[in-house]
Amino acid sequence: MTDRTVLVTGGAQGIGRATVAACLDKGWNAVAMDVDAEALNALDQELDHHGRLLCIEGPNHDEPGVRDAVTRSVETFGGLTGLVNNAGFSRNMPLEELSLEDWSAVIATNLTGGFLCAKHAAPHLRKAKGAIVNLASTRAFMSEADTEAYSASKGGVFGLTHALAASLAPDVRVNAISPGWIATQAWQKPATRQEPELSPEDHGQHWSGRVGAPPDVASMAVYLLSDEAGFITGANMVIDGGMTRKMIYTH
Ligand SMILES: NC(=O)c1ccc[n+]([C@@H]2O[C@H](COP(=O)([O-])OP(=O)(O)OC[C@H]3O[C@@H](n4cnc5c(N)ncnc54)[C@H](O)[C@@H]3O)[C@@H](O)[C@H]2O)c1
Repeated sequence: MTDRTVLVTGGAQGIGRATVAACLDKGWNAVAMDVDAEALNALDQELDHHGRLLCIEGPNHDEPGVRDAVTRSVETFGGLTGLVNNAGFSRNMPLEELSLEDWSAVIATNLTGGFLCAKHAAPHLRKAKGAIVNLASTRAFMSEADTEAYSASKGGVFGLTHALAASLAPDVRVNAISPGWIATQAWQKPATRQEPELSPEDHGQHWSGRVGAPPDVASMAVYLLSDEAGFITGANMVIDGGMTRKMIYTH
């Protein structure tokens, strides 16, 4: 399995870090691309990677940088078999206060970056009969107030996923994961890392009986990247402890 190489954007912290760790655990090579140099340095120091990890600093929405990251991944490990478009963030604020700059920043990282990474990884993924996993969100399909930019970006990721699945078929499978509430505090860089403070209500409102953790998502990402998921493409996997299937009428 060491001929497998997976590029994970936003790979230094949170779900991305858990995905990088899960790829390494499988014996695969991993490339973590992230804007946070301190977090990348901690990742490199803390993970047991035996030279199977390449860290690249840079944003996922800068086209020359993305092209370079793909080239470096291929030169370092001999090919590219997987891409996880994970980098993302939210900027929630009342509609009237949401600037065009904030809107555009969210769309650039959460949506445009996924397009650019898929575009430049595609020739290598086709050659390797590889796979792409895009991180959407349950917020692509349901909303709280003041989340226009994030929800729109994640709805875009859902659409991008099935468009890519059509365009890259039959060589490359493309799927989305839509996580619900995933507590990532323990998966941050050392300076900000902490155990999540979660109440019984936080856990108890989930049918799973608990809030999610990054490995819950990472294990699905690794499965979707593997040959075991060979008949799955264009799909969206909801990992939310049941929250989006739950009736929410108050009695
Ligand atoms: N945590 C959740 O509850 C949750 C729920 C649904 C979906 N998601 C999605 O999962 C993905 C990961 O979320 P997380 O909670 O683990 O985030 P996180 O904030 O814990 O980690 C995100 C990482 O991405 C990096 N990053 C940010 N912008 C970047 C860019 N432009 N280019 C490269 N790296 C960049 C950050 O430096 C950070 O290391 C996101 O797409 C997010 O929208 C998370």
